[in-house]
Amino acid sequence: MKLILLGAPGAGKGTVAKLLTAIDGSVQISTGDILRGAVTAGTDLGKEAEGYMSRGDLVPDSLIMGIMESRLQEPDCANGFLLDGFPRTIPQAEELTALLEKLGIKLDMAVEIDVPKDIILDRLCTRRTCENPDCQAIYNVKSNPPKVEGICDKCGARAIQREDETEEAISHRLATYNEKTAPLIGFYKKAGLLLSVPATSSDAVIAAVKEKLSL
Ligand code: AP5
Repeated sequence: MKLILLGAPGAGKGTVAKLLTAIDGSVQISTGDILRGAVTAGTDLGKEAEGYMSRGDLVPDSLIMGIMESRLQEPDCANGFLLDGFPRTIPQAEELTALLEKLGIKLDMAVEIDVPKDIILDRLCTRRTCENPDCQAIYNVKSNPPKVEGICDKCGARAIQREDETEEAISHRLATYNEKTAPLIGFYKKAGLLLSVPATSSDAVIAAVKEKLSL
């Protein structure tokens, strides 16, 4: 699979990506996870990205393209990849198209996970994420709680609320999505690559992807 996952914050991109990678060994590439890992590690990238992220702003396109150009050329991408949270703007999508062309890689499709706003808000307020940068497992206190409250089932680190999960940052992230990222739906529709799945269930998204790719 060579897929882009599109959808508002909290639509379930990370959750669906983790389930899809288990099907055929594709690798999940989440720019959000990469950036949060860099913030935790205190790298130059993390220091530059931190302010943008905690406010709910996008980090500059140039930073993201630098990360993705090298990431897409790592050997594990040969088995397929799921891009979770990238591209996020029209310039990123245009640069990605040129990069994939240069690398001789053909995308299968861009999958839009379309979830109503009230459900999204509820999910973001109740999400917990493993703070270990090598794990970053996703939980939800209502729909998928860890076995022991506040502790990641997989690695035993703390499962916490993200810094960008304040009410103010969440509403800013949703506005940023509508302004900067939602236009990508038209971009990929025009390219004949869009699969739009209006679904609140991850299983329904996975079934639609499998059907489209005849998996
Ligand atoms: P990023 O980490 O990409 O955040 P996001 O797009 O806001 O997406 P989320 O991770 O919040 O949500 P998700 O759709 O993955 O949902 P999840 O599966 O967790 O980006 C963070 C920041 O980094 C950005 O704000 C920006 O600053 C920066 N950044 C990243 N990429 C960038 C880029 N390309 N350019 C510029 N800046 C960039 O699910 C949410 C919750 O719902 C969970 O609790 C989950 O358990 C639950 N849930 C999921 N599916 C279901 C279901 N079917 N039923 C019930 N509950 C469910």
